[in-house]
Amino acid sequence: MAVSQTKSSPRKGASKSAAAARAAPDAIKLLKDDHRQVEEWFEEFESTNSASKKQKLAANICMALTVHTHIEEEIFYPACREAGVEDDMMDEADIEHDSAKKLIEEIEASAPGDNHYDARVKVLSEMIKHHVKEEEQRDGMFAKAKQADLDLKGLGIEMMQRKQDLMKQLKQRQ
Ligand SMILES: [Fe+2]
Ligand SMILES: [Fe+2]
Repeated sequence: MAVSQTKSSPRKGASKSAAAARAAPDAIKLLKDDHRQVEEWFEEFESTNSASKKQKLAANICMALTVHTHIEEEIFYPACREAGVEDDMMDEADIEHDSAKKLIEEIEASAPGDNHYDARVKVLSEMIKHHVKEEEQRDGMFAKAKQADLDLKGLGIEMMQRKQDLMKQLKQRQ
């Protein structure tokens, strides 16, 4: 997918509606909101003993992370590389995504009560905690993205639309 490289305001015709575009958060706010939501679900998972609740929370977490990593890899990360954020930092993030995706696949293929189910969710939460720190900390990826000449508003609109499309696709498959 083409990523807007310009510093100008959102491209004409790029959004389904001007109102939706205005309502979209900037790229970093959108990604941070996703992080907070998933953290909340991980906490809820840890504090419940109900298998049905665990199943629902794990499904939410896996879907949200699948969509989140997808829009980062397709839109945000390439824009960061393009804007000059160090390759080492971006490469590490790619590898952390790969590890998370492997666990997500395993969690989706199992159910509460299965061998190592809780352990998988716990390890995924620790991995994500580490990864989110790398993205959000001082001098982390998001800070570098802010310093770089990125069109965060334009990227936010693009990611919001892609996120909605992907969620719809995944929900249809359920
Ligand atoms: Fe992220
Ligand atoms: Fe990430």
